[in-house]
Amino acid sequence: MAMKVEKVLGMATGDGENSYAANSRTPMKAIRENMPLLQKAVEQVYTSLSPASVMVIADLGCSSGPNALLIVAEVLGMISDCNQKTNEKRDMELQFFLNDLPSNDFNLVFQSLDQFHNVTRKEEGNEAAAAPYFIVGVPGSFYTRLFPKQSVHLFHSSYSLHWLSKVPEELSSGNYLNEGNIHIGKTTPPLVANVFREQFQIDFELFLQLRSKELMTGGRMLLTFLGRKSEEMLMHGEIGIMWELLSESLQSLVLKGRVEKEKLDSFNLPLYAPSMEEVKVVINRIGLFHIEHMGPVAFSWDPQDDDTDDDHEVLDPANSGTNVSKSIRSVLEPLIAGHFGEDILDELFVVYASVVAKYLEKKNAKCPSVVVFLKKA
Ligand SMILES: C[S@@+](CC[C@H](N)C(=O)[O-])C[C@H]1O[C@@H](n2cnc3c(N)ncnc32)[C@H](O)[C@@H]1O
Repeated sequence: MAMKVEKVLGMATGDGENSYAANSRTPMKAIRENMPLLQKAVEQVYTSLSPASVMVIADLGCSSGPNALLIVAEVLGMISDCNQKTNEKRDMELQFFLNDLPSNDFNLVFQSLDQFHNVTRKEEGNEAAAAPYFIVGVPGSFYTRLFPKQSVHLFHSSYSLHWLSKVPEELSSGNYLNEGNIHIGKTTPPLVANVFREQFQIDFELFLQLRSKELMTGGRMLLTFLGRKSEEMLMHGEIGIMWELLSESLQSLVLKGRVEKEKLDSFNLPLYAPSMEEVKVVINRIGLFHIEHMGPVAFSWDPQDDDTDDDHEVLDPANSGTNVSKSIRSVLEPLIAGHFGEDILDELFVVYASVVAKYLEKKNAKCPSVVVFLKKA
């Protein structure tokens, strides 16, 4: 039986050096870049509601760390702007739901709420505050129903939907082998690449159907996830190379006798970075949403590298290699530790940092993503 993703996946907890909280700069850049779309979504929902309503916003795959509350802070700011623009006395209240898998470090989020409220709560003298708001954590997979029918106005999700519900059965059962790759690499057989794609199609369709039930009519959804520019399956874009280099690093531990070859052969990442066309096809096939906007965003692999020029040189490949390795470790640590054991982690990510550094010496690389803004039909 294929292992469901909630049994194995989890970002590194806490706020230490290797935690997700300390290594989530790339998603933060995407959230900031997509602010105009979020603003549009918030304004559209705000103006469609009567002044005394409760506006319900849910963030899916919120994780822990600064990004989990960044969305709440931004929406509060946008509501405050809307209030000022309309110049009308509104008694709107806001309900935020923060969703992630049960293994998520919700405690870290909850513990930071006091400080967050101190800055943002609508209290006398805090003119900038938007409206009374309430934050609730919702543990569970977004591949299941999470909310009552027609109860949410706006769904947001950033860097979460490329995670599949499971590794495709054909791979987890050992019927298909992936030639030492942990995702879609150059030597991945086309049949294997295809089962990843099919799993994405099944999961994304299910996700859209579930959210369509939970959204109010006219509700909005803003989704950002890893995606690829190229339609070519085997060249899974630059994001594929990132995983290929991790496969290479694991293979080098196999050669040193630190990892068993069978362990590597039975490990595959439960994720898929769809092309824009693949995303569009699923949305249009089920016909439950209008696409208001769809486009690519891309950032350098190194989360600390803010140069947006596509061809810029990597100034310090060794340093960038370390940064990339840290950010990938914060996302994959529990998954890798669960399969290979904790004791390979330090060595694996030192090797990975140097393999990535070597790659970046020749060429800069980007992490492409897809942004989709949808309205419930
Ligand atoms: C890379 S983090 C992104 C966190 C945050 N949204 C951000 O932009 O920084 C991806 C999150 O998605 C969550 N996730 C993956 N699959 C999920 C699922 N099926 N249901 C709910 N959350 C999921 C993971 O647990 C993880 O916390």
